[in-house]
Amino acid sequence: MLSYALVACLSVLVAVLFLPPDWSVDLGKESQKLRLLSRSDLSLYNGEKGSRGLYLAILGQVFDVHKGHKHYGPGGAYQSMAGKDASLAFITGDFTEKGLIDDVSSLSPLQVVALYDWLAFYHRQYQHVGLLVGRYYNETGQPTKALLEVEALLAEGQRLKAQAEIEKVHFPACNSEWSAGRGGRVWCSTKSGGVIRDWTGLPRKLFSPVSGYVQCVCIKDPSTAEEDPSLQEYDGCRSDADSCMVGEDQVSGAVTKNRPMPSD
Ligand code: HEM
Ligand SMILES: *[C@@H]1O[C@H](CO)[C@@H](O)[C@H](O)[C@H]1NC(C)=O
Repeated sequence: MLSYALVACLSVLVAVLFLPPDWSVDLGKESQKLRLLSRSDLSLYNGEKGSRGLYLAILGQVFDVHKGHKHYGPGGAYQSMAGKDASLAFITGDFTEKGLIDDVSSLSPLQVVALYDWLAFYHRQYQHVGLLVGRYYNETGQPTKALLEVEALLAEGQRLKAQAEIEKVHFPACNSEWSAGRGGRVWCSTKSGGVIRDWTGLPRKLFSPVSGYVQCVCIKDPSTAEEDPSLQEYDGCRSDADSCMVGEDQVSGAVTKNRPMPSD
């Protein structure tokens, strides 16, 4: 619960700092210089006194993170991720022993997209020095079946995200406000939802399967909306009104969702 709140608090920062990721990994030329490490080799790079250095792995790709020793070194907030592949914890935020693992088969496609955002972050910020032999790369440094499965989830997640992007332009979000005296209000404008357009639209409740909750969207053509069961009118609001008074719970549903870290 705490970690959810904390991730939410960071999302604003991240929205400002976020750069479009680039997760193409040039294995062709780069693989020459990449070392193959076993799990026990990698554990010698945990940054502790007498260790060989400070590395971490994500999806089997090993990065030299000594430049970030204040995060990953002794006393750092992310010390527990050093010297191992703790891919799952990047998404769950579970830094206990059972969370610090490389098996990400429990993640959803959209969570896998977020994990590849982290991978892209490490490619931008740190040096890729090796491959961890085990779950994702075999003894010759070739991708394993497990990696191909994660890549399939990535492709599915990217498809879902592209779909959500189209939906956002088709159904821009409403503006919303809440005041203690008057209660909540949702309304449409030609800029609401960050989609600049030549129509205002009418507010409707939309259940989004991607985010998993109800949000307010502006629809251009109310007659097509009548045929779509995921679009509902607001109770006590005329179907041609461009502004609706609503309960508090419905206003909070109109807020845009967070983006997880990474930041840089
Ligand atoms: C899923 C949960 C989280 C994960 C996996 C995570 C992971 C990380 C990692 C790996 C870094 C280091 C990035 C680098 O190498 O530069 C980092 C930095 C940071 N994290 Fe988190 N984090 C999580 C949640 C949070 C939360 C909840 C907060 C607090 C609201 C937070 C605050 C920060 C800050 C402020 C930095 C940057 C510190 C600096 O650059 O000096 N993180 N995080
Ligand atoms: C590694 O993977 C490649 C490609 O899948 C395969 O041809 C090779 O036999 C594997 N090597 C080992 C040692 O498992």
